[in-house]
Amino acid sequence: MDPRPIGIFDSGFGGLTIVRALVDLVPNESLVYLGDSARYPYGPRRPEEVAKFSHQIAEHLIAKYDVKMIIVACNTASSVALDSLKERFSLPIVGVIGAGARSAVSASQSRRVGVIGTVGTIASGAYQRELGNVDPPIGLTCAACPGLVEFVEAGETDSEQVRVLASRLLHPITTAEVDTLLLGCTHYPFLARVIQDVVGRDVVLISSAEETAFEVKELLSTSGLFASNSQVGEYIFVSSGDPEKFKELGHRLLGPELQDAEQVIWEGNLDET
Ligand code: DGL
Repeated sequence: MDPRPIGIFDSGFGGLTIVRALVDLVPNESLVYLGDSARYPYGPRRPEEVAKFSHQIAEHLIAKYDVKMIIVACNTASSVALDSLKERFSLPIVGVIGAGARSAVSASQSRRVGVIGTVGTIASGAYQRELGNVDPPIGLTCAACPGLVEFVEAGETDSEQVRVLASRLLHPITTAEVDTLLLGCTHYPFLARVIQDVVGRDVVLISSAEETAFEVKELLSTSGLFASNSQVGEYIFVSSGDPEKFKELGHRLLGPELQDAEQVIWEGNLDET
Protein backbone atom coordinates (compact mmCIF):
# COMPACT_ATOMS: atom_id res chain seq x y z
CA MET A 1 0.00 0.00 0.00
CA ASP A 2 1.28 3.44 -0.94
CA PRO A 3 -0.65 6.59 -0.03
CA ARG A 4 1.47 8.93 -2.17
CA PRO A 5 -0.12 10.72 -5.13
CA ILE A 6 0.19 9.92 -8.83
CA GLY A 7 1.67 12.79 -10.87
CA ILE A 8 0.10 13.65 -14.23
CA PHE A 9 1.12 16.34 -16.68
CA ASP A 10 0.17 17.92 -19.98
CA SER A 11 0.81 21.22 -21.75
CA GLY A 12 -2.53 22.55 -20.45
CA PHE A 13 -6.04 21.19 -19.97
CA GLY A 14 -5.83 18.12 -22.24
CA GLY A 15 -4.61 15.68 -19.59
CA LEU A 16 -7.76 16.37 -17.57
CA THR A 17 -9.42 13.78 -19.84
CA ILE A 18 -7.14 11.22 -18.16
CA VAL A 19 -7.75 12.67 -14.69
CA ARG A 20 -11.49 12.14 -15.29
CA ALA A 21 -10.93 8.48 -16.15
CA LEU A 22 -8.66 7.96 -13.12
CA VAL A 23 -11.02 9.62 -10.66
CA ASP A 24 -13.73 7.21 -11.79
CA LEU A 25 -11.55 4.07 -12.00
CA VAL A 26 -9.24 4.42 -8.99
CA PRO A 27 -11.07 6.75 -6.57
CA ASN A 28 -8.74 5.93 -3.65
CA GLU A 29 -5.74 7.38 -5.46
CA SER A 30 -4.60 10.95 -4.82
CA LEU A 31 -3.56 12.87 -7.93
CA VAL A 32 -1.37 15.89 -8.65
CA TYR A 33 -2.05 17.37 -12.08
CA LEU A 34 0.31 19.88 -13.66
CA GLY A 35 -0.81 21.85 -16.73
CA ASP A 36 2.10 23.69 -18.30
CA SER A 37 -0.18 26.47 -19.57
CA ALA A 38 2.60 29.09 -19.64
CA ARG A 39 4.40 27.08 -22.33
CA TYR A 40 1.53 25.54 -24.29
CA PRO A 41 1.09 24.58 -27.07
CA TYR A 42 3.72 21.84 -27.18
CA GLY A 43 2.66 20.67 -30.65
CA PRO A 44 4.63 23.20 -32.73
CA ARG A 45 7.76 23.09 -30.51
CA ARG A 46 11.00 21.31 -31.29
CA PRO A 47 11.15 17.75 -29.84
CA GLU A 48 14.21 18.59 -27.69
CA GLU A 49 12.36 21.51 -26.16
CA VAL A 50 9.29 19.40 -25.28
CA ALA A 51 11.60 16.74 -23.83
CA LYS A 52 13.39 19.33 -21.69
CA PHE A 53 10.08 20.67 -20.33
CA SER A 54 8.91 17.11 -19.62
CA HIS A 55 12.04 16.34 -17.60
CA GLN A 56 11.70 19.58 -15.66
CA ILE A 57 8.06 18.80 -14.82
CA ALA A 58 8.88 15.23 -13.77
CA GLU A 59 11.63 16.54 -11.45
CA HIS A 60 9.20 19.05 -9.97
CA LEU A 61 6.46 16.46 -9.37
CA ILE A 62 8.94 14.16 -7.63
CA ALA A 63 10.71 16.84 -5.57
CA LYS A 64 7.68 18.82 -4.46
CA TYR A 65 4.90 16.20 -4.28
CA ASP A 66 6.80 12.93 -3.83
CA VAL A 67 4.70 11.25 -6.52
CA LYS A 68 4.86 7.45 -6.78
CA MET A 69 4.19 7.27 -10.53
CA ILE A 70 4.05 9.73 -13.43
CA ILE A 71 1.57 9.76 -16.30
CA VAL A 72 2.66 11.71 -19.36
CA ALA A 73 -0.90 12.73 -20.26
CA CYS A 74 0.18 14.39 -23.47
CA ASN A 75 0.74 12.66 -26.81
CA THR A 76 3.32 15.21 -27.95
CA ALA A 77 5.45 14.72 -24.81
CA SER A 78 4.89 10.94 -24.84
CA SER A 79 6.09 10.83 -28.47
CA VAL A 80 9.37 12.57 -27.82
CA ALA A 81 10.22 12.15 -24.13
CA LEU A 82 8.80 8.90 -22.75
CA ASP A 83 11.92 6.80 -23.37
CA SER A 84 14.34 9.33 -21.90
CA LEU A 85 12.09 9.90 -18.87
CA LYS A 86 11.98 6.15 -18.23
CA GLU A 87 15.77 5.94 -18.55
CA ARG A 88 16.37 8.76 -16.14
CA PHE A 89 13.80 8.24 -13.36
CA SER A 90 13.34 5.03 -11.44
CA LEU A 91 9.61 5.40 -10.65
CA PRO A 92 6.98 3.94 -13.04
CA ILE A 93 6.20 6.29 -15.96
CA VAL A 94 3.22 5.76 -18.27
CA GLY A 95 2.60 7.41 -21.67
CA VAL A 96 -0.51 7.53 -23.81
CA ILE A 97 0.60 6.33 -27.25
CA GLY A 98 0.49 2.57 -26.64
CA ALA A 99 -2.86 2.69 -24.86
CA GLY A 100 -4.53 4.69 -27.65
CA ALA A 101 -3.09 2.49 -30.38
CA ARG A 102 -4.31 -0.70 -28.66
CA SER A 103 -7.85 0.68 -28.29
CA ALA A 104 -7.98 1.77 -31.93
CA VAL A 105 -6.84 -1.63 -33.20
CA SER A 106 -9.41 -3.49 -31.17
CA ALA A 107 -12.23 -1.11 -32.19
CA SER A 108 -11.67 -1.21 -35.94
CA GLN A 109 -13.65 -3.73 -38.00
CA SER A 110 -12.51 -2.55 -41.43
CA ARG A 111 -8.80 -2.21 -40.43
CA ARG A 112 -8.82 1.36 -41.75
CA VAL A 113 -7.82 3.66 -38.93
CA GLY A 114 -7.26 7.41 -38.74
CA VAL A 115 -5.04 9.19 -36.21
CA ILE A 116 -5.14 12.92 -35.55
CA GLY A 117 -2.69 14.78 -33.33
CA THR A 118 -0.47 17.79 -33.02
CA VAL A 119 2.20 18.55 -35.61
CA GLY A 120 4.81 17.26 -33.12
CA THR A 121 3.04 13.96 -32.51
CA ILE A 122 2.34 13.18 -36.16
CA ALA A 123 5.83 14.28 -37.27
CA SER A 124 7.46 12.11 -34.57
CA GLY A 125 6.08 8.99 -36.28
CA ALA A 126 5.16 7.51 -32.88
CA TYR A 127 1.73 6.25 -33.96
CA GLN A 128 3.02 5.18 -37.38
CA ARG A 129 5.61 2.98 -35.57
CA GLU A 130 3.13 1.70 -32.99
CA LEU A 131 0.52 0.77 -35.61
CA GLY A 132 2.91 -0.16 -38.38
CA ASN A 133 3.51 -3.74 -37.31
CA VAL A 134 0.11 -5.02 -36.26
CA ASP A 135 -1.14 -8.23 -37.74
CA PRO A 136 -3.31 -8.25 -39.81
CA PRO A 137 -2.04 -4.88 -41.03
CA ILE A 138 -3.89 -1.63 -40.51
CA GLY A 139 -4.45 0.95 -43.25
CA LEU A 140 -3.41 4.10 -41.44
CA THR A 141 -4.22 7.73 -42.30
CA CYS A 142 -2.59 10.38 -40.11
CA ALA A 143 -3.43 14.08 -40.03
CA ALA A 144 -1.84 16.86 -37.99
CA CYS A 145 -4.39 19.34 -36.69
CA PRO A 146 -2.60 22.58 -35.75
CA GLY A 147 -4.91 25.08 -34.08
CA LEU A 148 -7.43 22.74 -32.44
CA VAL A 149 -5.65 22.75 -29.07
CA GLU A 150 -5.83 26.55 -28.94
CA PHE A 151 -9.63 26.41 -29.16
CA VAL A 152 -9.81 24.05 -26.18
CA GLU A 153 -7.41 26.21 -24.16
CA ALA A 154 -9.67 29.19 -24.88
CA GLY A 155 -12.70 27.21 -23.67
CA GLU A 156 -14.21 27.29 -27.16
CA THR A 157 -15.23 23.70 -27.76
CA ASP A 158 -18.24 24.06 -30.04
CA SER A 159 -18.04 27.32 -32.01
CA GLU A 160 -18.56 27.88 -35.74
CA GLN A 161 -14.84 28.70 -36.08
CA VAL A 162 -13.72 25.41 -34.56
CA ARG A 163 -16.15 23.54 -36.84
CA VAL A 164 -14.76 25.25 -39.92
CA LEU A 165 -11.17 24.50 -38.91
CA ALA A 166 -11.98 20.90 -37.99
CA SER A 167 -13.70 20.30 -41.35
CA ARG A 168 -10.63 21.53 -43.20
CA LEU A 169 -8.06 19.65 -41.09
CA LEU A 170 -10.03 16.40 -41.06
CA HIS A 171 -10.43 16.28 -44.82
CA PRO A 172 -7.76 13.53 -45.26
CA ILE A 173 -9.61 11.45 -42.67
CA THR A 174 -13.06 11.85 -44.19
CA THR A 175 -11.78 10.86 -47.63
CA ALA A 176 -9.88 7.82 -46.33
CA GLU A 177 -13.07 6.02 -45.29
CA VAL A 178 -11.76 4.95 -41.91
CA ASP A 179 -14.14 3.27 -39.45
CA THR A 180 -12.11 4.31 -36.37
CA LEU A 181 -10.49 7.62 -35.51
CA LEU A 182 -7.94 7.80 -32.71
CA LEU A 183 -7.85 11.17 -30.98
CA GLY A 184 -4.08 11.31 -30.61
CA CYS A 185 -4.06 14.47 -28.53
CA THR A 186 -5.49 14.57 -25.03
CA HIS A 187 -7.21 17.89 -25.78
CA TYR A 188 -9.34 16.47 -28.59
CA PRO A 189 -11.93 14.55 -26.52
CA PHE A 190 -13.18 18.00 -25.48
CA LEU A 191 -13.96 18.56 -29.17
CA ALA A 192 -15.55 15.14 -29.65
CA ARG A 193 -18.95 16.50 -30.66
CA VAL A 194 -17.49 18.68 -33.41
CA ILE A 195 -15.13 15.96 -34.63
CA GLN A 196 -17.92 13.37 -34.67
CA ASP A 197 -20.13 15.71 -36.72
CA VAL A 198 -17.32 16.23 -39.24
CA VAL A 199 -16.32 12.58 -39.69
CA GLY A 200 -19.85 11.18 -39.43
CA ARG A 201 -21.72 9.02 -36.94
CA ASP A 202 -20.38 5.75 -38.38
CA VAL A 203 -16.81 6.45 -37.33
CA VAL A 204 -15.85 5.30 -33.81
CA LEU A 205 -13.87 7.93 -31.92
CA ILE A 206 -11.17 6.57 -29.61
CA SER A 207 -9.68 8.52 -26.72
CA SER A 208 -6.65 7.06 -24.95
CA ALA A 209 -7.97 8.22 -21.57
CA GLU A 210 -9.84 5.11 -20.43
CA GLU A 211 -7.24 2.65 -21.74
CA THR A 212 -4.46 4.65 -20.05
CA ALA A 213 -6.41 4.57 -16.78
CA PHE A 214 -6.75 0.76 -17.06
CA GLU A 215 -3.00 0.50 -17.69
CA VAL A 216 -2.33 2.63 -14.59
CA LYS A 217 -4.63 0.46 -12.48
CA GLU A 218 -2.83 -2.66 -13.65
CA LEU A 219 0.57 -1.13 -12.94
CA LEU A 220 -0.48 0.00 -9.46
CA SER A 221 -1.49 -3.55 -8.77
CA THR A 222 1.59 -5.30 -10.18
CA SER A 223 3.99 -2.88 -8.51
CA GLY A 224 2.25 -2.92 -5.13
CA LEU A 225 1.65 0.84 -5.27
CA PHE A 226 -2.13 0.88 -4.71
CA ALA A 227 -3.48 3.28 -2.09
CA SER A 228 -5.50 1.57 0.61
CA ASN A 229 -9.24 1.04 0.10
CA SER A 230 -9.95 3.37 2.99
CA GLN A 231 -8.04 6.29 1.45
CA VAL A 232 -10.16 8.99 -0.14
CA GLY A 233 -8.33 10.42 -3.16
CA GLU A 234 -7.26 14.05 -2.85
CA TYR A 235 -6.60 16.19 -5.89
CA ILE A 236 -4.10 18.98 -6.38
CA PHE A 237 -4.06 21.02 -9.59
CA VAL A 238 -1.06 23.09 -10.59
CA SER A 239 -0.67 25.47 -13.52
CA SER A 240 2.34 27.33 -14.80
CA GLY A 241 -0.08 29.91 -16.20
CA ASP A 242 -2.76 31.96 -14.47
CA PRO A 243 -4.16 29.76 -11.67
CA GLU A 244 -7.49 31.63 -11.65
CA LYS A 245 -8.04 30.91 -15.33
CA PHE A 246 -6.94 27.33 -14.80
CA LYS A 247 -9.41 26.91 -11.95
CA GLU A 248 -12.32 28.40 -13.86
CA LEU A 249 -11.91 26.61 -17.19
CA GLY A 250 -10.54 23.42 -15.60
CA HIS A 251 -13.62 23.19 -13.38
CA ARG A 252 -15.83 23.54 -16.44
CA LEU A 253 -13.92 20.89 -18.39
CA LEU A 254 -13.25 18.35 -15.60
CA GLY A 255 -16.04 18.84 -13.09
CA PRO A 256 -16.34 19.30 -9.32
CA GLU A 257 -13.01 17.67 -8.43
CA LEU A 258 -11.20 20.80 -9.61
CA GLN A 259 -11.93 23.39 -6.95
CA ASP A 260 -8.64 25.24 -6.80
CA ALA A 261 -5.32 25.61 -8.61
CA GLU A 262 -1.80 26.36 -7.41
CA GLN A 263 0.78 28.12 -9.53
CA VAL A 264 4.26 26.94 -10.38
CA ILE A 265 6.65 29.55 -11.74
CA TRP A 266 9.50 28.21 -13.83
CA GLU A 267 12.82 29.94 -13.38
CA GLY A 268 14.69 31.45 -16.34
CA ASN A 269 13.37 31.81 -19.88
CA LEU A 270 10.00 30.29 -20.62
CA ASP A 271 11.06 29.48 -24.14
CA GLU A 272 14.12 27.50 -25.02
CA THR A 273 16.00 29.00 -27.87
N1 DGL B 1 -2.48 17.65 -25.15
C1 DGL B 1 -1.26 17.52 -25.83
C2 DGL B 1 -1.19 16.28 -26.67
O1 DGL B 1 -1.82 15.30 -26.31
C3 DGL B 1 -0.54 18.70 -26.35
C4 DGL B 1 -1.22 19.77 -27.09
C5 DGL B 1 -0.29 20.94 -27.34
O2 DGL B 1 0.13 21.55 -26.37
O3 DGL B 1 -0.01 21.24 -28.51
O4 DGL B 1 -0.49 16.24 -27.66
